Amino acid sequence: MSSTTTIHAGYAPAGPHFPVAVPVHQTTAYEFPSYADAREMFALTKPGFTYSRTGNPTVAVLEQRVAELEGGTAAVALASGQSAVALALLALLGRGDAERAGADGHDGGPRTVVAARQLYGGTLDLLTDTFADFGYRVDFVDHQDLDAWRAAITPRTRAVLLESITNPLAELADVPAIAEIAHAAGVPVVVDNTLATPVLYRPLEHGADIVVHSATKFLGGHGSALAGVVVDGGRFDFAADPAKWQQLAAPKARYAAGSGAGASLVERYASCPFAALVRSKYLHDLGPALAPDAAASILRSIETLNLRVARHGANARAVAAHLAGHPAVARVHHPAVLAGTDPESTTARIAARDYPRGAGSVFAFDLAVDPDRDPDAVGRFIDALGLFKLVANLGDTRSLVAHPAAMTHCRMTREQRAAAGIAETTVRVSIGLEEPEDLVADLDQALLTVDAARAGDLDPQEGRVAS
Ligand SMILES: Cc1ncc(COP(=O)(O)O)c(C=O)c1O
Repeated sequence: MSSTTTIHAGYAPAGPHFPVAVPVHQTTAYEFPSYADAREMFALTKPGFTYSRTGNPTVAVLEQRVAELEGGTAAVALASGQSAVALALLALLGRGDAERAGADGHDGGPRTVVAARQLYGGTLDLLTDTFADFGYRVDFVDHQDLDAWRAAITPRTRAVLLESITNPLAELADVPAIAEIAHAAGVPVVVDNTLATPVLYRPLEHGADIVVHSATKFLGGHGSALAGVVVDGGRFDFAADPAKWQQLAAPKARYAAGSGAGASLVERYASCPFAALVRSKYLHDLGPALAPDAAASILRSIETLNLRVARHGANARAVAAHLAGHPAVARVHHPAVLAGTDPESTTARIAARDYPRGAGSVFAFDLAVDPDRDPDAVGRFIDALGLFKLVANLGDTRSLVAHPAAMTHCRMTREQRAAAGIAETTVRVSIGLEEPEDLVADLDQALLTVDAARAGDLDPQEGRVAS
C-alpha cells in the first residue's frame, strides 16, 4: 500500500489560500449558488454539499482517501466503527419483515446475515440483540469452517460478515474461499478490516465486496477520535438480481424528483450504488454523521499509517516471540508464533499466503496458571503492569491490555468462551509504538506475580509474592 496515497489522496491545496493541511470545514450547511442549484442538489441530480449530515468537504477527503487505500470506488465516513458495521448491513438487508415464499427458493422466513462467530463484542451485541429486534436472523459460523459457511448461506441471506484479523486471538480466515461460496449464492461479503488496516491486507483484492473500519483504531491511531468508514468495492452486481436487491436495482420514489426521475441507484451511481444507498438513505435517515474535526484528526494520522503499522507489527513480533519463551505463559496467539509451532494451522497458512507484511499487533496470550486454583492471577498481572494501560481500545500509540473474560467477552458463559478459544487466563494486548525492550521489561516484571503463583510462593491471604 502506497504512502503517497496515505498522504495525498483526496486532497489538493486550492485557492485562495492553498492550505497544505486539509482544512476543517466546521460548518453544518452550505449556501446554494441559486435556487435552481438547490433544487438539483436535493434531487441528487447535481453533486454538491447540502448539509453536513450527509456530506462535508473535510469528511469527503477522508472518504476519498480510505476508498483509495482499500482499492474501492467510494466510501462513506461515519461517527463510529459501530455505525459503519450497522449501516453496511442494514443497507444490504433492507426490509426486516418476512417475504413471501417464492420460486427463487425463498421460504418466506426473515432475511439473514451469516456471520463469523469470531467478531468484536459490540458487533455481536448488534447482531444478536438489536438485529433480532428488527426481525433479521443471524446465523453464526466458525470463520475457518468453509462447510459451515456453505451450509448457512440460503436464498434469504443478504450478507456475509467476517473480520480479516480477529480479536482477541488474531486468527485469519480464507477470505477468497469464503467469497467464492458467498458469490455462488449471490451474496456480497463484508469484511471488517479494522485490525489489519489496508497496510497489511486489502480485502477487496481477496474477493470481498464491502470493507468496514473502526477508524477509531489504527487509522486514527492516537486514541483521540471515534470514526468509522464503509468502503464500496463497486464490483458486486446488484443488477443481476433486481428482485433480490430492490433497494439498489429498482426505482425508488424518494429519488424520483428532478431529471433523474425513475432511475435506480444502480443506474445513477454505476460505480458505487452501495455507497450511495448508505449515504442517501441510512446516513441521511439515521444520522450517525462524522464531525469534521474528528475527520481531520483521522486524516492527519493516516498520513503516517504505513510507518506506524510497520512499527506496531515489528514491536508485536518481538513481544510475542519473547512471551512464547516465557515460563509463565502457556500459549501465544500470534500468527508469527504459530508459524513456528503450528505451521499447518489455517491462521499460519493464510498469514504466509496473504499477509506478507505481517498479521498485526493485536493478539492474546494465556497465562500458565490454573484459574480455579488461582482466580486472581490475571488481575494481579494486569495491576502490576506499568507501561501497558488497562483500556477498552486498541490500535493506539500506547500499548494496551485487556482481559477478555472480564471485559469484552464477559457476557458469554465460560463454556462459550472456551468454544471460541478464549480461556479465563487469556490476556489481550495491543502493542504500541514504545521501545520494544521497555515493553518486554514491563511484561517480565508483571509476569513475576504469575511465576510466583505457579511455583506456589504466593501468599493467597496477602495477595502478594511472599518474600
Ligand atoms: C473490529 C472492530 N470493529 C468495530 C468496532 C467498533 O468501532 P467503534 O468503537 O469505533 O464504534 C471495534 C471496536 O472496538 C472493533 O474492534
